Amino acid sequence: TIPLLIDTDPGVDDALALLMAFDDPRHRVVGLTIAAGNVGLRHTVANALKLCEVAGRDVPVFAGCAGPLLHPAPDAGYVHGQDGFGDVGYEPARRRAEAEHAALAILRLSHEHAGRLRLVALGPLTNIALALKLDPTLPQRVARLVVMGGAVTGHGNITPSAEFNVYFDPEAAHIVFEAFAADGAPGIDLADWEATLAHGLRHDEVVAWLRADSPRARFYERISRKTREWSADRRGAYWHSADGLAMAYALHPDGAVETAARPVSVELEGRHARGATVVDWQRQSGRPDRFRILLRYDQARFEGLVRAALAAG
Ligand code: BDR
Ligand code: CA
Repeated sequence: TIPLLIDTDPGVDDALALLMAFDDPRHRVVGLTIAAGNVGLRHTVANALKLCEVAGRDVPVFAGCAGPLLHPAPDAGYVHGQDGFGDVGYEPARRRAEAEHAALAILRLSHEHAGRLRLVALGPLTNIALALKLDPTLPQRVARLVVMGGAVTGHGNITPSAEFNVYFDPEAAHIVFEAFAADGAPGIDLADWEATLAHGLRHDEVVAWLRADSPRARFYERISRKTREWSADRRGAYWHSADGLAMAYALHPDGAVETAARPVSVELEGRHARGATVVDWQRQSGRPDRFRILLRYDQARFEGLVRAALAAG
Protein backbone atom coordinates (compact mmCIF):
# COMPACT_ATOMS: atom_id res chain seq x y z
CA THR A 1 0.00 0.00 0.00
CA ILE A 2 1.02 3.60 -0.64
CA PRO A 3 1.82 5.68 2.47
CA LEU A 4 -0.27 8.86 2.56
CA LEU A 5 0.33 11.80 4.88
CA ILE A 6 -2.43 14.38 5.04
CA ASP A 7 -1.88 17.95 6.22
CA THR A 8 -5.30 19.34 7.02
CA ASP A 9 -7.40 21.94 8.91
CA PRO A 10 -10.74 20.19 9.56
CA GLY A 11 -13.20 21.77 8.57
CA VAL A 12 -16.28 19.99 7.27
CA ASP A 13 -14.80 19.90 3.80
CA ASP A 14 -11.56 18.32 5.01
CA ALA A 15 -13.56 15.75 6.98
CA LEU A 16 -15.09 14.39 3.80
CA ALA A 17 -11.66 14.11 2.18
CA LEU A 18 -10.33 12.26 5.23
CA LEU A 19 -13.17 9.76 5.10
CA MET A 20 -12.38 9.15 1.43
CA ALA A 21 -8.72 8.49 2.26
CA PHE A 22 -9.41 6.21 5.24
CA ASP A 23 -11.20 3.75 3.01
CA ASP A 24 -8.98 3.55 0.02
CA PRO A 25 -7.57 0.03 -0.27
CA ARG A 26 -4.44 1.13 -2.14
CA HIS A 27 -3.38 3.78 0.40
CA ARG A 28 -2.57 3.76 4.08
CA VAL A 29 -2.92 7.04 5.98
CA VAL A 30 0.25 7.22 8.10
CA GLY A 31 -0.58 10.46 9.85
CA LEU A 32 -2.66 13.61 9.98
CA THR A 33 -0.66 16.79 10.50
CA ILE A 34 -2.92 19.58 11.57
CA ALA A 35 -2.85 23.21 10.50
CA ALA A 36 -4.80 26.23 11.64
CA GLY A 37 -7.05 27.51 8.88
CA ASN A 38 -10.78 27.08 8.69
CA VAL A 39 -10.72 27.68 12.47
CA GLY A 40 -8.04 27.82 15.18
CA LEU A 41 -5.67 24.95 15.89
CA ARG A 42 -7.41 23.89 19.10
CA HIS A 43 -10.54 23.11 17.09
CA THR A 44 -8.86 21.63 14.02
CA VAL A 45 -6.94 19.16 16.23
CA ALA A 46 -10.04 18.22 18.24
CA ASN A 47 -12.02 17.78 15.02
CA ALA A 48 -9.37 15.53 13.47
CA LEU A 49 -9.32 13.31 16.56
CA LYS A 50 -13.10 13.13 16.65
CA LEU A 51 -13.35 12.24 12.99
CA CYS A 52 -10.84 9.39 13.44
CA GLU A 53 -12.94 8.09 16.33
CA VAL A 54 -16.18 8.23 14.37
CA ALA A 55 -14.51 6.49 11.43
CA GLY A 56 -12.89 3.89 13.69
CA ARG A 57 -9.34 4.78 12.56
CA ASP A 58 -6.39 5.10 14.94
CA VAL A 59 -4.33 7.35 12.69
CA PRO A 60 -1.78 9.45 14.66
CA VAL A 61 -2.69 13.13 14.81
CA PHE A 62 0.09 15.77 15.09
CA ALA A 63 -0.69 19.37 16.03
CA GLY A 64 1.15 21.95 13.94
CA CYS A 65 1.45 25.71 13.72
CA ALA A 66 -1.22 27.81 15.41
CA GLY A 67 -1.15 30.54 12.78
CA PRO A 68 0.47 31.80 9.56
CA LEU A 69 4.25 32.32 9.37
CA LEU A 70 4.09 36.11 9.14
CA HIS A 71 0.72 37.81 9.08
CA PRO A 72 -2.42 37.57 11.24
CA ALA A 73 -4.96 34.95 10.23
CA PRO A 74 -8.22 35.82 8.46
CA ASP A 75 -11.35 34.45 10.16
CA ALA A 76 -13.43 31.86 8.28
CA GLY A 77 -15.64 30.60 11.10
CA TYR A 78 -18.73 31.65 9.16
CA VAL A 79 -18.16 28.85 6.61
CA HIS A 80 -17.66 25.75 8.76
CA GLY A 81 -19.03 27.01 12.11
CA GLN A 82 -17.06 28.55 14.98
CA ASP A 83 -15.66 25.14 15.93
CA GLY A 84 -15.12 24.11 12.29
CA PHE A 85 -17.56 21.20 12.62
CA GLY A 86 -20.87 23.02 12.43
CA ASP A 87 -21.16 23.85 16.17
CA VAL A 88 -23.15 20.72 16.94
CA GLY A 89 -21.58 20.27 20.37
CA TYR A 90 -20.15 16.80 19.83
CA GLU A 91 -18.59 14.81 22.67
CA PRO A 92 -14.77 15.27 22.41
CA ALA A 93 -12.72 12.26 21.30
CA ARG A 94 -11.08 10.11 23.97
CA ARG A 95 -7.71 10.04 22.20
CA ARG A 96 -5.22 12.92 22.27
CA ALA A 97 -2.79 14.30 19.73
CA GLU A 98 0.79 12.98 19.68
CA ALA A 99 3.49 15.02 21.44
CA GLU A 100 5.56 15.46 18.27
CA HIS A 101 5.08 18.69 16.31
CA ALA A 102 3.49 18.32 12.86
CA ALA A 103 6.54 19.75 11.04
CA LEU A 104 8.81 17.22 12.73
CA ALA A 105 6.37 14.38 12.03
CA ILE A 106 6.37 15.34 8.33
CA LEU A 107 10.17 15.09 8.26
CA ARG A 108 10.31 11.82 10.21
CA LEU A 109 7.66 10.15 8.07
CA SER A 110 9.43 11.37 4.93
CA HIS A 111 12.48 9.40 6.08
CA GLU A 112 10.52 6.32 7.10
CA HIS A 113 8.77 6.21 3.72
CA ALA A 114 11.49 7.85 1.61
CA GLY A 115 10.71 7.82 -2.10
CA ARG A 116 7.19 6.45 -1.55
CA LEU A 117 5.41 9.01 0.61
CA ARG A 118 2.46 10.85 -0.93
CA LEU A 119 1.64 14.17 0.70
CA VAL A 120 -1.79 15.75 0.43
CA ALA A 121 -2.28 19.32 1.68
CA LEU A 122 -5.88 20.34 2.35
CA GLY A 123 -5.29 23.51 4.35
CA PRO A 124 -2.88 26.45 4.63
CA LEU A 125 0.68 25.30 3.93
CA THR A 126 2.27 26.53 7.17
CA ASN A 127 3.38 23.13 8.55
CA ILE A 128 4.95 21.97 5.30
CA ALA A 129 6.72 25.33 4.88
CA LEU A 130 8.16 25.03 8.38
CA ALA A 131 9.28 21.46 7.68
CA LEU A 132 11.04 22.76 4.55
CA LYS A 133 12.84 25.44 6.53
CA LEU A 134 14.02 22.79 8.99
CA ASP A 135 15.10 20.44 6.21
CA PRO A 136 15.15 21.68 2.59
CA THR A 137 15.83 18.14 1.30
CA LEU A 138 12.25 17.08 2.14
CA PRO A 139 10.96 17.19 -1.49
CA GLN A 140 13.59 14.66 -2.57
CA ARG A 141 11.93 12.03 -0.39
CA VAL A 142 8.33 12.78 -1.36
CA ALA A 143 6.90 10.89 -4.34
CA ARG A 144 3.97 13.24 -4.93
CA LEU A 145 2.46 16.40 -3.43
CA VAL A 146 -1.18 17.23 -4.06
CA VAL A 147 -2.31 20.66 -2.90
CA MET A 148 -5.85 21.95 -2.58
CA GLY A 149 -5.26 25.63 -3.16
CA GLY A 150 -5.25 28.57 -5.50
CA ALA A 151 -7.58 30.06 -8.06
CA VAL A 152 -5.86 29.54 -11.36
CA THR A 153 -7.74 32.12 -13.41
CA GLY A 154 -8.31 34.53 -10.56
CA HIS A 155 -11.79 33.65 -9.30
CA GLY A 156 -10.97 33.89 -5.62
CA ASN A 157 -13.23 32.72 -2.81
CA ILE A 158 -11.82 34.82 0.04
CA THR A 159 -10.77 37.92 -1.91
CA PRO A 160 -11.59 38.68 -5.55
CA SER A 161 -8.31 37.10 -6.59
CA ALA A 162 -7.25 34.65 -3.89
CA GLU A 163 -8.35 31.24 -2.64
CA PHE A 164 -8.55 30.67 1.11
CA ASN A 165 -5.73 28.16 1.76
CA VAL A 166 -3.15 30.21 -0.10
CA TYR A 167 -4.47 33.55 1.18
CA PHE A 168 -4.34 32.38 4.80
CA ASP A 169 -0.56 31.97 4.61
CA PRO A 170 0.84 33.17 1.27
CA GLU A 171 4.45 33.10 2.50
CA ALA A 172 4.08 29.43 3.41
CA ALA A 173 2.50 28.66 0.02
CA HIS A 174 5.38 30.46 -1.69
CA ILE A 175 7.97 28.43 0.22
CA VAL A 176 6.23 25.13 -0.58
CA PHE A 177 5.57 25.97 -4.23
CA GLU A 178 9.17 27.01 -4.88
CA ALA A 179 10.70 24.03 -3.09
CA PHE A 180 8.48 21.37 -4.65
CA ALA A 181 8.79 22.92 -8.13
CA ALA A 182 12.59 22.88 -8.02
CA ASP A 183 14.79 20.42 -9.90
CA GLY A 184 14.87 17.03 -8.22
CA ALA A 185 11.50 17.67 -6.51
CA PRO A 186 8.29 15.93 -7.59
CA GLY A 187 6.43 19.07 -8.74
CA ILE A 188 2.94 19.89 -7.49
CA ASP A 189 -0.48 18.57 -8.41
CA LEU A 190 -2.85 21.46 -7.87
CA ALA A 191 -6.58 21.10 -7.32
CA ASP A 192 -7.77 24.69 -7.15
CA TRP A 193 -10.97 26.52 -6.30
CA GLU A 194 -12.07 26.83 -9.91
CA ALA A 195 -11.84 23.07 -10.41
CA THR A 196 -13.93 22.80 -7.25
CA LEU A 197 -16.63 25.04 -8.72
CA ALA A 198 -16.70 22.92 -11.87
CA HIS A 199 -17.39 19.77 -9.83
CA GLY A 200 -20.40 20.64 -7.71
CA LEU A 201 -22.44 17.94 -5.98
CA ARG A 202 -26.21 18.32 -6.15
CA HIS A 203 -27.60 19.12 -2.70
CA ASP A 204 -30.47 16.66 -3.09
CA GLU A 205 -28.04 13.87 -3.96
CA VAL A 206 -25.76 14.68 -1.04
CA VAL A 207 -28.78 14.60 1.26
CA ALA A 208 -29.69 11.16 -0.09
CA TRP A 209 -26.12 9.87 0.45
CA LEU A 210 -26.20 11.21 4.00
CA ARG A 211 -29.17 8.94 4.74
CA ALA A 212 -26.83 5.92 4.55
CA ASP A 213 -27.08 3.73 7.63
CA SER A 214 -23.56 4.33 8.98
CA PRO A 215 -22.12 6.27 11.95
CA ARG A 216 -20.05 8.29 9.51
CA ALA A 217 -23.04 9.41 7.46
CA ARG A 218 -24.95 10.30 10.61
CA PHE A 219 -22.06 12.32 12.01
CA TYR A 220 -21.36 14.00 8.69
CA GLU A 221 -25.01 14.88 8.23
CA ARG A 222 -24.90 16.79 11.53
CA ILE A 223 -21.59 18.59 11.16
CA SER A 224 -22.18 19.60 7.54
CA ARG A 225 -25.71 20.94 7.99
CA LYS A 226 -24.70 24.56 8.63
CA THR A 227 -22.20 24.78 5.82
CA ARG A 228 -24.60 23.10 3.38
CA GLU A 229 -27.27 25.65 4.27
CA TRP A 230 -24.79 28.51 3.91
CA SER A 231 -23.70 27.17 0.56
CA ALA A 232 -27.27 26.62 -0.69
CA ASP A 233 -28.07 30.26 0.10
CA ARG A 234 -25.00 31.48 -1.68
CA ARG A 235 -24.37 29.08 -4.52
CA GLY A 236 -27.70 27.39 -5.23
CA ALA A 237 -28.32 23.75 -6.14
CA TYR A 238 -24.73 22.54 -5.85
CA TRP A 239 -22.49 21.93 -2.88
CA HIS A 240 -18.73 22.15 -3.36
CA SER A 241 -16.11 20.06 -1.64
CA ALA A 242 -12.71 21.48 -2.52
CA ASP A 243 -10.85 19.04 -0.31
CA GLY A 244 -12.94 16.09 -1.49
CA LEU A 245 -12.02 16.81 -5.10
CA ALA A 246 -8.34 17.22 -4.21
CA MET A 247 -8.47 13.87 -2.41
CA ALA A 248 -10.08 12.19 -5.42
CA TYR A 249 -7.20 13.54 -7.55
CA ALA A 250 -4.70 12.31 -4.95
CA LEU A 251 -6.13 8.80 -4.56
CA HIS A 252 -7.12 8.23 -8.18
CA PRO A 253 -5.08 10.48 -10.48
CA ASP A 254 -6.32 8.46 -13.45
CA GLY A 255 -9.77 10.04 -12.87
CA ALA A 256 -8.35 13.36 -14.08
CA VAL A 257 -9.80 13.99 -17.54
CA GLU A 258 -7.93 17.21 -18.24
CA THR A 259 -4.86 18.80 -16.64
CA ALA A 260 -2.54 21.62 -17.67
CA ALA A 261 1.18 21.78 -16.93
CA ARG A 262 2.39 25.32 -16.19
CA PRO A 263 4.56 27.35 -13.81
CA VAL A 264 2.68 28.88 -10.86
CA SER A 265 3.78 31.58 -8.39
CA VAL A 266 2.17 33.15 -5.35
CA GLU A 267 1.64 36.92 -5.14
CA LEU A 268 3.02 38.11 -1.81
CA GLU A 269 2.65 41.87 -2.25
CA GLY A 270 -0.13 43.43 -4.21
CA ARG A 271 -2.91 45.80 -3.22
CA HIS A 272 -5.63 43.64 -4.78
CA ALA A 273 -3.97 40.32 -5.24
CA ARG A 274 -2.05 39.20 -2.16
CA GLY A 275 -2.32 35.41 -2.02
CA ALA A 276 -3.28 35.08 -5.69
CA THR A 277 -1.81 32.14 -7.60
CA VAL A 278 -0.36 33.53 -10.79
CA VAL A 279 -0.30 30.89 -13.52
CA ASP A 280 2.01 31.51 -16.45
CA TRP A 281 -0.56 30.38 -19.00
CA GLN A 282 1.29 31.88 -21.96
CA ARG A 283 4.67 30.61 -20.75
CA GLN A 284 6.18 34.10 -20.62
CA SER A 285 8.56 33.45 -17.75
CA GLY A 286 10.61 30.66 -19.22
CA ARG A 287 10.20 28.77 -15.94
CA PRO A 288 9.60 25.03 -16.19
CA ASP A 289 6.06 23.56 -16.16
CA ARG A 290 6.25 22.03 -12.70
CA PHE A 291 2.58 22.23 -11.71
CA ARG A 292 -0.06 19.84 -12.99
CA ILE A 293 -3.26 21.84 -12.64
CA LEU A 294 -6.45 19.82 -12.44
CA LEU A 295 -9.01 21.23 -14.88
CA ARG A 296 -11.53 18.41 -15.16
CA TYR A 297 -12.08 15.22 -13.19
CA ASP A 298 -14.44 12.36 -14.02
CA GLN A 299 -17.57 13.63 -12.25
CA ALA A 300 -19.24 10.22 -11.88
CA ARG A 301 -16.08 8.82 -10.34
CA PHE A 302 -15.84 11.73 -7.90
CA GLU A 303 -19.45 11.30 -6.85
CA GLY A 304 -18.95 7.56 -6.42
CA LEU A 305 -15.95 8.13 -4.14
CA VAL A 306 -17.84 10.62 -1.98
CA ARG A 307 -20.87 8.38 -1.68
CA ALA A 308 -18.78 5.33 -0.80
CA ALA A 309 -16.82 7.27 1.84
CA LEU A 310 -20.04 8.33 3.57
CA ALA A 311 -21.62 4.89 3.46
CA ALA A 312 -18.58 2.95 4.72
CA GLY A 313 -18.04 1.74 8.26
C1 BDR B 1 -10.40 25.54 1.08
O1 BDR B 1 -10.65 26.38 2.18
C2 BDR B 1 -11.34 25.67 3.18
O2 BDR B 1 -12.50 26.35 3.55
C3 BDR B 1 -11.65 24.31 2.64
O3 BDR B 1 -11.46 23.34 3.66
C4 BDR B 1 -10.70 24.12 1.51
O4 BDR B 1 -9.50 23.51 1.94
C5 BDR B 1 -11.18 26.02 -0.10
O5 BDR B 1 -10.78 27.29 -0.47
CA1 CA C 1 -9.26 22.53 4.17
